[in-house]
Formats: sequence, C-alpha cells, structure tokens
Amino acid sequence: MRKALNIISICIVFAVTVSLYAQTKDIYPIMKEVGPTFTGLNRGMTDRSMSAADVAKDAEKLQKLFVEAGAFMKEKNLEKAVGWANDAAAAAGDLAKAAKSNESDPMYAAAKTIQKQCATCHAAHREQLPDKSFKLKMQ
Ligand code: HEC
Repeated sequence: MRKALNIISICIVFAVTVSLYAQTKDIYPIMKEVGPTFTGLNRGMTDRSMSAADVAKDAEKLQKLFVEAGAFMKEKNLEKAVGWANDAAAAAGDLAKAAKSNESDPMYAAAKTIQKQCATCHAAHREQLPDKSFKLKMQ
C-alpha cells in the first residue's frame, strides 16, 4: 500500500513539473502579442473615442504578457532581462490603475517606462536576421 502511494506521489510530482514547464511560453508568440497590444494601448491613450476601460484592458493584457516574458527569461537564466520584463509588467499594472482612475500624467509616465523596457531588452537580447525576422540573442 505504501509503495503504491509512493508511486502515485512520484507521478503527481512528475505531472506537476511537466505542466509547470509547459506553461512557460516561448518569447516569440509573446512578443507577437505584445507588439499590437502596445500599439493599441498608445492609440487608445490619445484617441478620445476609446474609453479608459479599453486602455486599462490593454494594459492588463500587457502586464500578463510581460509576466510570461519574465518567466521565459528566468528559464534562460537571463537575469537582467527578467528585471526588465518585471519592470514592464509593473508599469503596465500602474498604467491600468491610472487609466481606471482617469489620471493622465501617471498613465503617460507608465507608458514611457514600458517603452524604455522594450528598447533596453531589445538592444540586449533581440537580433535581426537577414530576412528581417527576429530571434533571441543570448549574450
Ligand atoms: C524582457 C525582454 C523584452 C522586453 C521587455 C520586450 N521585448 Fe520584444 N522581443 C524580445 C526578444 C528577445 C525578441 C526576439 C524574439 C523573437 O522575435 O523571436 C523580441 C521581439 C519583438 C518583436 C518582433 C516579433 C517578431 O515578429 O519576430 C516585437 C514586435 C516586439 N518584440 C515588441 C515589443 C514591444 C512593443 C515591447 C514593449 C512594449 C517589447 N517588445 C518588450 C524581448 C523583449
């Protein structure tokens, strides 16, 4: 009986490990969503026909994507990039909050902080290939 239980618990640990690993998305599909979401967010902040709720929704989506980007970078042991992704996620959270309370100065400040993380991380870890597509640069 005890042996069976041990085997069952080993199986559970294995299953949990595999599913946790599977949850770490590759950076490419994450960035494919980050691009248009950030573009939409910037448009939403200046376009008066769009509501603060739309801006907040984009910001929350961006926050989630940057948490995923951070998990990816952590897996690659790129600690600085983990920091940039986390800073971007935190700023996206701030932006959502500012949008919801209609505070434009903190909203624009948060957008600027996010933009800075895009540029810093791309300079360090994004490489353009001859066919104009991008890939992760490890160093
Ligand atoms: C933590 C690092 C990091 C941050 C922060 C980051 N990126 Fe990226 N991004 C990457 C890496 C690495 C790639 C290259 C991977 C790839 O495209 O396969 C990339 C690729 C891209 C691509 C190209 C996708 C393609 O077509 O191949 C776009 C667009 C993009 N990022 C937009 C953004 C925007 C906009 C922001 C900020 C709002 C941002 N990224 C922030 C790391 C980051």
